[in-house]
Amino acid sequence: GLRKKEVNVLCLGLDNSGKTTIINHLKPTNPTGSFGPLSEDWKHVSQTQTQDIVPTIGFNIEKFKSSSLSFTVFDMSGQSRYRNLWEHYYNGDQLRMVVAKEELDNLLSHQDIRSRRMPVLFFANKMDLRDALSSVKVSQLLCLENIKDKPWHICASDAVKGEGIQEGVDWLQDHIK
Ligand code: GTP
Ligand code: MG
Repeated sequence: GLRKKEVNVLCLGLDNSGKTTIINHLKPTNPTGSFGPLSEDWKHVSQTQTQDIVPTIGFNIEKFKSSSLSFTVFDMSGQSRYRNLWEHYYNGDQLRMVVAKEELDNLLSHQDIRSRRMPVLFFANKMDLRDALSSVKVSQLLCLENIKDKPWHICASDAVKGEGIQEGVDWLQDHIK
């Protein structure tokens, strides 16, 4: 058959927001053929779902396929020495949103990102939690309407149950040229 187009995805977000859990859901549950966790030098490359998700150290490289694309996802750790320090001075999700917005603004103004019309997908994850903000509220707090030079989309998701994730990947697939 036709070879699937290969795309690279950078997965960013604050620590403990659910990035690894979202990505885990996109991978097949059962090893097909001889696939299993592979190690490639110092990088950790795995191709099937795992039961135990631990905070990411550095980053992991994950691979999965959709109907027409072959994704390589860089699952980055959300930790930073600055944020770890900040955590001693605040609690509560509203302040986490401020930190997330700062990180997003830094990302979008970086010269390697600014000049490119790459699609940006947001997950308003942990929508199952009682105090979860709606995706509309999250997009307001992150000022997503200000992103004019890239297509973007936000999905509410529950990465533990796997809800809302496929919608996001479908959108991403439709917006990759
Ligand atoms: P770092 O690797 O530290 O940057 O974190 P991460 O963003 O990869 O988060 P991770 O996927 O490790 O999830 C952190 C915790 O949140 C885990 O205990 C998950 O089970 C939990 N979690 C992830 N998604 C959801 C969700 O949609 N709902 C609920 N209730 N818990 C979730
Ligand atoms: Mg992680």
